[in-house]
Amino acid sequence: MSTIDSLMTSPPVTATAGELLRVAAKRMHDHRVGSVVVMEGSRAIGIVTERDVLRAAASGAATSLVSEVMTAPVDSIDVTTTLPSALATMRERGYRHMPVTDHGHPVGVVSLRDLMRVASIGPAEVPRGLKGVVVADTEVGDVRGNEGFYHYRQYSAVELAERRTLEDVWQLMIDGSLAATEIERQRFLTETIPLRTITLAIHELLPAIASVSEPLEGLRTALSLAAAERKLRPVIDIHTSQRRADALFLCAVTPTILCALHRLRRRLPVVPPRADLGYAANYLWMLHGTDPSAANARALESYLISTADHGFNASTFTARVVASTGADMGACVVAAIGALSGPLHGGAPSRALALLDEIGSTEHIDEVVAPMIERGDKIMGFGHPVYKTDDPRSVMLRGIARRLADDEDSRRFVAFAEATEAGVINLLLRMKPGRQLRTNVEFYAGVVMQLCGIPPEMFTPTFASSRVIGWCANMLEQAADNKIIRPSARYIGPPPPQPIPHVA
Ligand SMILES: CC(C)(COP(=O)(O)OP(=O)(O)OC[C@H]1O[C@@H](n2cnc3c(N)ncnc32)[C@H](O)[C@@H]1OP(=O)(O)O)[C@@H](O)C(=O)NCCC(=O)NCCS
Repeated sequence: MSTIDSLMTSPPVTATAGELLRVAAKRMHDHRVGSVVVMEGSRAIGIVTERDVLRAAASGAATSLVSEVMTAPVDSIDVTTTLPSALATMRERGYRHMPVTDHGHPVGVVSLRDLMRVASIGPAEVPRGLKGVVVADTEVGDVRGNEGFYHYRQYSAVELAERRTLEDVWQLMIDGSLAATEIERQRFLTETIPLRTITLAIHELLPAIASVSEPLEGLRTALSLAAAERKLRPVIDIHTSQRRADALFLCAVTPTILCALHRLRRRLPVVPPRADLGYAANYLWMLHGTDPSAANARALESYLISTADHGFNASTFTARVVASTGADMGACVVAAIGALSGPLHGGAPSRALALLDEIGSTEHIDEVVAPMIERGDKIMGFGHPVYKTDDPRSVMLRGIARRLADDEDSRRFVAFAEATEAGVINLLLRMKPGRQLRTNVEFYAGVVMQLCGIPPEMFTPTFASSRVIGWCANMLEQAADNKIIRPSARYIGPPPPQPIPHVA
């Protein structure tokens, strides 16, 4: 059963007996709490509530001291008290606020109002996987599943992908607005391009990391090291401008680390970033070591923009949960990469392409896919937790794939992908009626990346390299108005406490 520590305001806002009441009242107001605990050393000797302040104000005593209005001595409640028993105690004794103590030391304050709220509605029951539950307010963006629409701040993400550069969108996500002039654009580039370069110390560690891990796994290790080397500090300890600088660093260095790890894994020399190329062209340059075609660079840029953010998905939620603990921005991104690496989230595009390989040609679609659906397997690249209509990213990427296919082989490949899409949707419609299953971003992401010469093992890492931007925008927002994210679980195991068995 939940105890009082899940509900209390901690640490308590405190005052001393000798200070002016209006000073203590201002502190109460600034911290948005309804009481202050009056301390003498490490001991709680009294409590002043909003009511005491109002009463003193009504009597016109402008220079009252805390000691003149406080309730003293003060009763406290132990941190291990359960919520129902705390509520019963406060009701019995007529208290509205009570200090909470741990081994006699004040660690928080609990209010009757909060207890009654929990008591009247009980712990909120939510759907499995938190599906559809609103857990935060955000200005970063949103997804409208029924309309097949999503946006970054107030702009359509697909329109941004078609009309703006990755750096423009990056700036929009981090700073809140699009560059309005070439000068503003240049300023952002001047700030971020030098951050692409990895230091010699990290560079020297990459071969060891690449020798034992795939690029996305290796990214977690290398980013942890890069963040530690740069001495990133907990977000709660740093100013907004430092948080922004840390975010830009993590976003800029991620593609460089990924491409270096990929090349090292293939025993190829690392290709350092080029300052004269935009983000996407530089990505292809660092991956292949050759000048990319403008068409490939633009196709990749549109893909990267379209995947920079997408509502409160699992990795974004993870990033915000870690940011809510006050951890440094590097820790938040590393945690989010872990969430993204799962096949149900970001790990699907290479699997979607593997499915195309397995099917081989259009006449085999039913024979390969129907038994999979029958077995209850999820067909990679299909279905979405939010979209119940076409995923707008998949529609856009299908168009890009068609435009990119400029020779016979690639045209045949895109036509085969489209036929597979139609075939699988038909099968899903027949075998899973009413589930509204269509292609998601991953299906054509694999196709577009393949056409740009990106190898399958770099599909999810490439997705990660742009999603860092969305994570960072969300982490900055979380840090700016933070409340630790700490939900509850219902215990369904054997009733405790059971006797501890003896070792035979
Ligand atoms: C993305 C995904 C996790 C969304 O899951 P979800 O919204 O929770 O959907 P559910 O798991 O509740 O599925 C609802 C029904 O559709 C079916 N379904 C969902 N996606 C399916 C898929 N790709 N292939 C076959 N059946 C699927 C489920 O089996 C379930 O059927 P049931 O009602 O008979 O049990 C899921 O569609 C999936 O695993 N897709 C494949 C992986 C993928 O492409 N991921 C990238 C996401 S961008």
